[in-house]
Amino acid sequence: MTRLDRVEQSTRSRFAEPPLTPRTAVIWSVLAAELQRRADDTLTVLDVGGGTGGFAVPLAQAGHRVTVVDASPDALAALTRRAAEAGVADRVHAVQGDGDALTGLVEPATVDLVLCHAVLEVVDDPTPVATALATALRPGGAASVLVAGRAAAVLGRAMNGHLDVAAALAAAPDGAAGPRDTLRRRFDAEEAAALLRVAGLTVEEIHGVRVLADLLPATVADGQPGALVELEKVLAGRPPYRDLAAQLHLFARRQA
Ligand SMILES: C[S@@+](CC[C@H](N)C(=O)[O-])C[C@H]1O[C@@H](n2cnc3c(N)ncnc32)[C@H](O)[C@@H]1O
Repeated sequence: MTRLDRVEQSTRSRFAEPPLTPRTAVIWSVLAAELQRRADDTLTVLDVGGGTGGFAVPLAQAGHRVTVVDASPDALAALTRRAAEAGVADRVHAVQGDGDALTGLVEPATVDLVLCHAVLEVVDDPTPVATALATALRPGGAASVLVAGRAAAVLGRAMNGHLDVAAALAAAPDGAAGPRDTLRRRFDAEEAAALLRVAGLTVEEIHGVRVLADLLPATVADGQPGALVELEKVLAGRPPYRDLAAQLHLFARRQA
């Protein structure tokens, strides 16, 4: 049993169990440790680019107050419906806004846990967004940050026969392959950690998310979902596997 398994098991009783998939299992395991550490508190959570509430709604079901800031009115409408269906509409606050302008939307030092998943790779400039995440946190508060991994994108393009795109991704300083790329940038673990450190956060943990999931034939991934989630959790914290993941999850803290 891994450390992530032990934390998850001991927290499970308090937690409205979210679906554990290769996209979410490792992140929930890390968040579960923080929720367990703060078990007596109702947390103020901010989910920047939280979309339709895949993390926000389970956190509200666990009793916390969650504000989702997202640029998309459609995503926020889906979030609001999902929160109502889950019976937690009173604990989920949807705010349409730009992560690039977060400082004007959230009072400094008011948040216990900030989530920023799959957003820093699409904003205009990740540096002020990371600074705004840190500024929103109370001293001692934690940040859960998920970014696109560069190495997985290079390998994925190469394995699909797009060697020119793989070479461009590997060479580009920002890890993006020009104007047709859907993302503005990708990160390796150290680049992402440096971004958070410059923002004033202390990086406590880095895990890979989807080390294997995108590499396997669908028959294997769909045929053995439980085994895949377990293997993802085993590999998530171990370089070099971690560093080849499609996404990198960083857990960081604003020092008390
Ligand atoms: C890939 S989705 C991720 C959703 C969710 N965080 C997750 O991990 O499932 C990216 C989300 O970020 C939002 N988004 C993109 N750019 C943004 C920006 N500049 N400010 C706020 N939200 C943004 C999109 O509307 C979308 O809901």
